Amino acid sequence: MSKKVSRRKFLTYMLGGTAGFLGAGLLFPMVRFAVDPVMKKGGGVGFVDVGMRVSEITDRPKAVQFKVHRKDGWYQPEEGELLTAWVMKDEKGQVVALSPVCKHLGCTVNWDSNPQFKNQFFCPCHFGRYYKDGTNVPGTPPSKPLDKYQIKIENDRLLIGPVNKA
Ligand code: FES
Repeated sequence: MSKKVSRRKFLTYMLGGTAGFLGAGLLFPMVRFAVDPVMKKGGGVGFVDVGMRVSEITDRPKAVQFKVHRKDGWYQPEEGELLTAWVMKDEKGQVVALSPVCKHLGCTVNWDSNPQFKNQFFCPCHFGRYYKDGTNVPGTPPSKPLDKYQIKIENDRLLIGPVNKA
C-alpha cells in the first residue's frame, strides 16, 4: 500500500516536474523577447535629434522624418528605419509630435490634405479624420486619438523618442 502511494507520488513529481520544465522552456524565450529591448543597454529606441530647432516650430503641423535603429524581432535594417512625426506647438506653446499612423487600420494620415476637411488630419484609406491635437473626429472610422511621440528639447533642438500609445 505504502509502495503504491509512493509510486503515485513519484509519478506526480515526475510529471509535474516535466511539465514545469517544458513550461519554463516555452515561457522563458517569450518573457525574454518581451523584456529584452528594455533590459539591454542601448537596445531600445532612444531619442533622435531630428535636425529641427524648437524656435522654428509653429502651430501648423509639419512632417518631420527621422531614422531610428531598432530591432523588431529578427528584423533590424542596417540603414535604420525611417519614421515620420507631425510636429507642431499646441495652444499652450508646448511642442507636440504626433504619429502619422492611423488608429483605424494603420494607413498614413496627412495634414490638411482634403479640401473638404480643412485644418484636420485626414486618412485617405477610409476617410478617417483627426483634429489638430490628434483627437479622432467622432463618427469617422478611427476610435482613438493619434499616438504621441515622447520628446525632449536640448539647446533649442528637438529630439524625438518612442511612441506613447494612446
Ligand atoms: S486606416 Fe485610416 S481610416 Fe481606415
